[in-house]
Amino acid sequence: MTTRDLASLPKRDVYRILSSLVVPRPIAWISTVDASGRVNLAPFSSFMGIFGPPMLAVTLGRRQDGSLKDTHRNLRERGEAVVHLADRPLLEALHASGEEVPPEVSELERLGLAAVPSLRVAPPRLARAPVALECRLNRELDLAPASTLVLLDVLVAHAADRIYDEALDCADASRWQPLARLASVAGPNYGVLGETLRLEAPQLP
Ligand SMILES: Cc1cc2nc3c(=O)[nH]c(=O)nc-3n(C[C@H](O)[C@H](O)[C@H](O)COP(=O)(O)O)c2cc1C
Repeated sequence: MTTRDLASLPKRDVYRILSSLVVPRPIAWISTVDASGRVNLAPFSSFMGIFGPPMLAVTLGRRQDGSLKDTHRNLRERGEAVVHLADRPLLEALHASGEEVPPEVSELERLGLAAVPSLRVAPPRLARAPVALECRLNRELDLAPASTLVLLDVLVAHAADRIYDEALDCADASRWQPLARLASVAGPNYGVLGETLRLEAPQLP
């Protein structure tokens, strides 16, 4: 067993170690719009769903120079986002959208991704994403000088017909291949959902 006392380590080491241990992580692929309506897209894996109330939590860091990421600035200005979940065919585009580019560059145009209007929010949703959740900013919580937890209310959920079980009215994970983020330094940095199984509720004696 390897043990690290995180309290005694520099921030960079803590990040590397902990983000390699908390795996697999779902990836929020977030579209937002700026004040002039330009669409921004970026991935975030410090991400979790909170299902009652219907909310999502995402942690946004800062750019190297300390400025807000475009996603963060747009969320503050417009208060809306679409959080997508991507599958294997979208992996390369998702990864490429994580590159830091100037705010005037739209990742959608750069990556040739088609978008369609959302129902309740201004940011459009990606036409090819199997899951798209239309969200409104609920609140921000600063966790450290360069780390902000953002809570989003989920207003509308879209799922591709191919992953959706109409009879049970929910998505079926065996019908698609959601992506996961793994460690960023050692070994593979992405995973694709592999073996799936179903266990029935345990019978108590
Ligand atoms: C798979 C993946 C996961 C990421 N997760 C996060 C994250 O949780 N928080 C964060 O601040 N940045 C994260 N990033 C980095 C951002 O995507 C990157 O800083 C991006 O340029 C931000 O874009 P924006 O300025 O257009 O918002 C991640 C990058 C990748 C490729």
